[in-house]
Amino acid sequence: MDRRAPRVCIIYYSLSGQSRGVINLLADGLRSQGIEVFIEQVKVRQRIGFPFYSVYKTLKMMVLTFFRKRIAIKPLSDSCFQSFDLIILAGPTWSYNPSGPILDLLDRYGEKLFRDKQVTPLISCRGYYRLHDWGLRKKLRNCGAQPTESIVFHHPVREPWSTIGVFLKSAGYQPEKMFLLAKHYPHYGHNVDQLLEAKARGSRIGAQLQKDTVALEN
Ligand SMILES: Cc1cc2nc3c(=O)[nH]c(=O)nc-3n(C[C@H](O)[C@H](O)[C@H](O)COP(=O)(O)O)c2cc1C
Repeated sequence: MDRRAPRVCIIYYSLSGQSRGVINLLADGLRSQGIEVFIEQVKVRQRIGFPFYSVYKTLKMMVLTFFRKRIAIKPLSDSCFQSFDLIILAGPTWSYNPSGPILDLLDRYGEKLFRDKQVTPLISCRGYYRLHDWGLRKKLRNCGAQPTESIVFHHPVREPWSTIGVFLKSAGYQPEKMFLLAKHYPHYGHNVDQLLEAKARGSRIGAQLQKDTVALEN
């Protein structure tokens, strides 16, 4: 008898492309195990450009997001509401919180999307994610979801260079090319090893989902 492939839905928001890079490789890993993957990119109603191209706009964004300002999203596609064996909810940390679009998604669709579902939070950040993770898991539980272990990728640069680098990058500078800073801050975002780790992680999750499906059928 033909077995149905386990299905995973990845819902993500990404402003500067880091979460997108990670989830694409994670999806490759899942597919390598025969998992059917559906990917939904969360889109905002009013375009937010990155970088913000000014120190003032960067500071303003940091303050607003610290107070968990919601950023209105466009309607999700109907496919997100189908049945899945696992949902992965991915996005960046903004001022110690989930990003504004993900907060808006949780307000609008949290119960409908996540009730009685296994949900894996995936976080892309420069390094300070604990409050984000705690708050997101609490919100997911309030929606009736069962959050699994979170997957966290942080930028592989030491502090204080990581904070300085992300701030300058957001404000429109190129810290990786700045005199004295370049040797401490070679690159914005995740590196190739982390992307390969995301693929390996996807492969491990996929193998486990296949095992769980076989166990359920027997
Ligand atoms: C407005 C803003 C606030 C941020 N706040 C945090 C933070 O509190 N902690 C952290 O670790 N990273 C923070 N970051 C860095 C992002 O989480 C990080 O660059 C992430 O990889 C971006 O993912 P994305 O490209 O998918 O949007 C912030 C970035 C922005 C733009």
